Amino acid sequence: MSNKNQLKQIASNLVRKGKGILAADESNPTCQKRFASIGVESSFDSRNEYRDILFTSDGIEDFISGVILFDETLRQNTTCDKKIPFPELLNSKGIIPGIKVDKGTGSLEGFLNEKATDGLDGLDERLAEYYELGARFAKWRAVITIGNDIPSKSCIYANAHSLARYASKCQQAGIVPIVEPEVLMDGKHTIERCNITTKKVLKIVFEQLHMYNVLLEGMILKPNMIISAIDCPIQANVEKVADMTYACLKENVPENVPGIAFLSGGQSGDLATLHLNKMNKKYSNDMPWNLTFSYGRALQHDALNMWKGEKENRKAAQELLLLRTKNNSLATFGSKS
Ligand code: 13P
Repeated sequence: MSNKNQLKQIASNLVRKGKGILAADESNPTCQKRFASIGVESSFDSRNEYRDILFTSDGIEDFISGVILFDETLRQNTTCDKKIPFPELLNSKGIIPGIKVDKGTGSLEGFLNEKATDGLDGLDERLAEYYELGARFAKWRAVITIGNDIPSKSCIYANAHSLARYASKCQQAGIVPIVEPEVLMDGKHTIERCNITTKKVLKIVFEQLHMYNVLLEGMILKPNMIISAIDCPIQANVEKVADMTYACLKENVPENVPGIAFLSGGQSGDLATLHLNKMNKKYSNDMPWNLTFSYGRALQHDALNMWKGEKENRKAAQELLLLRTKNNSLATFGSKS
């Protein structure tokens, strides 16, 4: 199969109906924060144990098509006697292993409170190694902050440019890029402001992807939903979020992108499901792409809190993860009641 056809097949597999992506690619500092919230020390072994719980959940493959891993996790193994490498375990369940390849965000020099994502240096070499280790898709997260007079055009262009170069490098390496321009929900801004900003960002991101000849059929877009900021006094309801998000995507995402997999971005698990469900219920007949999830916190929050670092909570944590993945799987059909 040609490289292009392989990319298309992986991308459409990842976003096929009924399936979504589990984002389990928290960097070690992020893991430290998450584990601190449940009183667990973050170490090589505790991270290994936690990821083992997630990936060995019985039947998770019914709802999950791909898992995004962190560099360390891609090299870790199951904790049972057999010590199966995680990519091998996931493949055996029909789940595609993916990898976070950006190096996190740093301040955008000369632009107060704005960020740019690092990681293009050495990316070709890392991608070649990740491919050898079994990764077939990747993620790069760009962050756009809404505030007084921001985002600047410079910040949007810097991030869109890096996303496009990353995506092009991935495709050269036979890896499907997840392109993630996240407009943050931090702050007090209204849903209308989120809408205006996200539109602007998506327009420039696709302009850059086009400029770098990225094969749209061989990538996945991972955007934020159009929602009110977390501290906005007026919180838009589910219907409004669904309507505005769908309209924004319809206007700005080309039809040959096979799928859009949302990030949860700090929404509660319940709301993230309700929003996805409403969009699929209301608009699926008019959608050129599949609309699914690539959630981190919204899928893991309950399981993490149940686990608390205790072996005897493994099973109960897995059940909570399965419930979240199942509900979101239903939401891809718009049939979550
Ligand atoms: P959240 O769903 O927690 O936002 O994480 C998704 C993700 O992969 C962020 O890059």
